[in-house]
Amino acid sequence: MLNECTLGHFAFGKRRRKLAYVLMFRIMTYTTARPIVVIGLLGTTLDLGKHPDRWQNWRPSVSICRQQDLIVRRFELLHSKREQSLAEIVKKDMESVSPETEVLLHRMEFSDAWDFEQVYEKLFTFARAYKFDTDAEDYLVHITTGTHVAQICLFLLTESRHLPGKLLQSSPDRDRRGEGLIKIIDLDLSKYDRIASRFRQEQQEGASFLKGGIETRNPAFNRLIDQIEKVASSTRDPLLLMGPTGAGKSRLARRIFELKKARHAVAGPFVEVNCATLRGDGAMSALFGHVKGAFTGAMSDRPGLLRSANQGVLFLDEVGELGLDEQAMLLRAIEEKVFLPLGSDREVQSNFQLIVGTNRDLLQSVREGRFREDLLARINLWMFHLPGLADRTEDIEPNLTYELEQFEQKTGTRLSFNKEAKAKFLAFGLSPEAQWRGNFRDLNAAVVRMGTLAAGGRIGIDVVDEEARRLSSLWSDSRMDSNDELSLLLSPAQLMQFDLFDRVQLAEVVSICRRSRSLSEAGRSLFNISRGRKGTTNDADRLRKYLNRFGLTWDHLRSQR
Ligand SMILES: Nc1ncnc2c1ncn2[C@@H]1O[C@H](COP(=O)(O)OP(=O)(O)OP(=O)(O)O)[C@@H](O)[C@H]1O
Ligand SMILES: [Mg+2]
Repeated sequence: MLNECTLGHFAFGKRRRKLAYVLMFRIMTYTTARPIVVIGLLGTTLDLGKHPDRWQNWRPSVSICRQQDLIVRRFELLHSKREQSLAEIVKKDMESVSPETEVLLHRMEFSDAWDFEQVYEKLFTFARAYKFDTDAEDYLVHITTGTHVAQICLFLLTESRHLPGKLLQSSPDRDRRGEGLIKIIDLDLSKYDRIASRFRQEQQEGASFLKGGIETRNPAFNRLIDQIEKVASSTRDPLLLMGPTGAGKSRLARRIFELKKARHAVAGPFVEVNCATLRGDGAMSALFGHVKGAFTGAMSDRPGLLRSANQGVLFLDEVGELGLDEQAMLLRAIEEKVFLPLGSDREVQSNFQLIVGTNRDLLQSVREGRFREDLLARINLWMFHLPGLADRTEDIEPNLTYELEQFEQKTGTRLSFNKEAKAKFLAFGLSPEAQWRGNFRDLNAAVVRMGTLAAGGRIGIDVVDEEARRLSSLWSDSRMDSNDELSLLLSPAQLMQFDLFDRVQLAEVVSICRRSRSLSEAGRSLFNISRGRKGTTNDADRLRKYLNRFGLTWDHLRSQR
């Protein structure tokens, strides 16, 4: 009795301190604090205690209500029928130490509290039925009581936001008496500085890996890679990589696979095929496999690329070249993860992530009836457009350094530029004259040629000049393309009004405008020689007037890019 009284007094003393704190807390947080609701299982061993001396022990559920700096408005205590009387004692004790707490008892029966499936299912049902009001209340999920299985289930349900709260972990003091300690764990990891900076570091490492360790400077390209890094590790949906030839689509696809593998996001192999090499029956069989005897010459079963890519990544390069029948089969294979090998009546399953590459405008192919609209809709959920080198000239220098290192690794010869030669190569590479039509292939070929021609591994001005001439002539051979571009700008009727002489000249002017960043830059390239002899040095004005003769403006040209 004496003991009870002393304890009662003790509890009252605590409560007064607590009330003072509550008031202070309420004043400080008057506008923001929301009532706290705790959800937890009754601890059949730890919460146990009938005798007055139970107050000497640490009892997790009760201890939460004894915390000085945690005011629990409601405690949802889950227990089994067998533990009804213990639950009532615990409820009474909790409410006695914390009169502002209402303890609600909920029955939850587990025939085997170590059976993961059963425990998860019961807790899930509870979570689904509970009327959470996250605008009005904050929820804490107590994970100290219950079997380890129950704790894992509570964790999973909290992480998946079926229980929309934070975890509450309680632990005893050193002497296992009294109110013990509590810790609140927020599973929103971005709220932890150390973890967030670790994630950032990992994200940067991933992006740098995707870039092949080349420190690129073009902001748009870097943003694109950051996005791909995020998407690549978290999704198994198809990825569509678009961009001109040699922009690095195939290389990026392989890197994405390697990054996923390093992060344990993929277990199977990387399977790659260029769809332009697949034709006729051979295409179906290469992709989907066949059974022995499916057609003349099918001497044995063939698994096909889709099956080989099971659990891995299938990279279909130049997907725009795929035939319509193959497209239909592919669509089914990505949507339902099943397909029918040639000559077989048994469906085969394969679960792979699809990456496709193309330098075609697939929308245009859809309009022309050469590409299925439904397949495009399925594969362009994540569409990334890789810019060509001419659109990321800041990256020519770091890529040049990379190419020199590659040359060195392959040939064992150290390769470098002399200072003026490097400046000259970069000036050429960054000028509108440099089209970089083959993108990295052109840059790679240029370095290989210069490295081979350079005496003693040192690239001088002469070698650079010769290479610039070679590249220019290579690109000018594709001038017909710019004539095609012209027909996109002007109707046939308009074009008919001009002499061939004018059309040829205009085509080149348009092409230079497209590669220039401003009207003035284009003007500088075009009037480089005559500028000095003219009364006016306003190249932009000259160019504007020239374009105007054909009814064209700079903005019009740029919007057609
Ligand atoms: N960022 C890069 N830096 C340096 N070299 C690169 C880069 N990306 C690609 N390359 C190199 O350029 C060449 C062409 O790249 P890749 O085959 O990936 O281009 P692609 O976009 O797939 O071209 P295509 O449309 O013709 O298939 C390869 O030798 C590749 O190693
Ligand atoms: Mg490719």
